[in-house]
Amino acid sequence: MPNSLTAIYPGSFDPPTNGHLDLITRGAGLVNHLIVAILQNSQKQPLFTVAERTEMLKEITANLPNVEIDSFDGLLVDFAAHRQANTIIRGIRAVSDYETELHMALLNRSMRPETETVFLMASAEYSFLSSRMVKEIITLGGDASKFVPPAVMRRLHIKFPSTKE
Ligand code: PNS
Repeated sequence: MPNSLTAIYPGSFDPPTNGHLDLITRGAGLVNHLIVAILQNSQKQPLFTVAERTEMLKEITANLPNVEIDSFDGLLVDFAAHRQANTIIRGIRAVSDYETELHMALLNRSMRPETETVFLMASAEYSFLSSRMVKEIITLGGDASKFVPPAVMRRLHIKFPSTKE
């Protein structure tokens, strides 16, 4: 397709939150094809397997026809080259995100000059939200249903049956 723009939205998505879904929806509105790319080998001990995160992301983006879910191992720029995508989308919630994101964007562009990172500002209602906070709420027995899509909440209940509905 001439002038077709493919972008990658990479992350850990452990688990996907309403903030991620907001970014995916808005990102999908800006490009022809959005690849949501799950990092496979994070040093962090994940709560959900890549297969579980793939299933959840497929379920919550089923209404977005130009969104594809994929996963990658190794460098993001190598995955971007493999998928022939030059645009990376990342969300910024607060000033605290800026420094890390700036470093990642500059490193990625230095390793692969055609890589351009585009930042979307998180919607105000999600500017405090992170997967880490969701996991903390859940493991401490709190109610996270306001912060994640229902398909994710169902899986959190399976992992932590004592959590609040
Ligand atoms: O959701 P996260 O954990 O903030 O996502 C971070 C992610 C996956 C985008 C980042 O860790 C990444 O791209 N990792 C792949 C390895 C890589 O390319 N590192 C060099 C870029 S600094």
